[in-house]
Amino acid sequence: MVSYKELGLVNTKEMFAKAIKGGYAIPAFNFNNMEQLQAIVKAAVETKSPVILQVSKGARNYANQTLLRYMAEGAVEYAKELGCEKPQIVLHLDHGDSFELCKSCVDMGFSSVMIDGSHLPYEENVALTKKVVEYAHQYDVTVEGELGVLAGVEDEVSAEHHTYTNPEEVIDFATRTGCDSLAISIGTSHGAYKFKPEQCHVDPATGRLVPPPLAFDVLDAVMAKLPGFPIVLHGSSSVPQEYVDMINQYGGKLEAAIGIPEEELRKAAKSAVCKINIDSDSRLAMTAAVRKVFAEKPAEFDPRKYLGPARDEMEKLYKHKIINVLGSNDKL
Ligand code: G3H
Ligand code: 13P
Ligand code: ZN
Repeated sequence: MVSYKELGLVNTKEMFAKAIKGGYAIPAFNFNNMEQLQAIVKAAVETKSPVILQVSKGARNYANQTLLRYMAEGAVEYAKELGCEKPQIVLHLDHGDSFELCKSCVDMGFSSVMIDGSHLPYEENVALTKKVVEYAHQYDVTVEGELGVLAGVEDEVSAEHHTYTNPEEVIDFATRTGCDSLAISIGTSHGAYKFKPEQCHVDPATGRLVPPPLAFDVLDAVMAKLPGFPIVLHGSSSVPQEYVDMINQYGGKLEAAIGIPEEELRKAAKSAVCKINIDSDSRLAMTAAVRKVFAEKPAEFDPRKYLGPARDEMEKLYKHKIINVLGSNDKL
């Protein structure tokens, strides 16, 4: 049993309370490798932002959970080395799908876990979330639950269509489970293909496809039921068109990739939404930068020569999100 406190990590409690009060959101960035982690930590330190490092089940399978845990511990020390006296870094399990997985993360030093029972019948979701909360709270580890189903793939759980969160259920869910934050479904979804082109309209000024708006009425109703309760938005990548264009220009084939417009996320960040999950945008930034090097320098074979530019591009993206979208800069 390792406590996250010994690793210099923090849970989400105080961080979320400050974010709601201050009208900004904490970035929750997924990481699977060293370059992503370096870029996240550098961006957070240079913008003086708290940050949530997210590890999915897929990331654990890809990179090994023990290694990822030590990398997160290293992230705290790296942040200090970069000049941040008191880094505010959370190590969070993204989309935990069982009690055993959540327990194993708590036991190995995670400071926060998500138990995603959103695909289960309501009472089963309540029971599973409550079980995880009861275990995690013994160690001061915070727990995110989810109500409502996001379209797209939630790790191994795939849903064709979303079901918005039912605001009538949130008080009962939060009270009975004791969860510390609640992920809700208001029209976001995972991945780079969040909307079909036929759901969008064309912006006459730019010629770009504009997706339908998020269901802010559902968010408002949830906030009215649970005033001041921390709300989480998954599936919040914006799928920057410049990365999609760059990928396609250098031999990729991403057709009709559409994300959440940044103005909508800016609006959400000012509300009780205090954690915004972003993964796909970082994948796009990395892929665009790597493809560019491969296309322009076909003789290059030193991985540092393409992973270095990829890391720089991700750092630029993370800083942009922190400063221009979530507003979590200058909070340390
Ligand atoms: O919510 C999904 C995250 O983007 C993680 O994706 O399961 O492919 O690691 P992954
Ligand atoms: P995106 O696919 O929109 O980046 O969402 C990531 C996410 O929600 C991770 O849990
Ligand atoms: Zn998610």
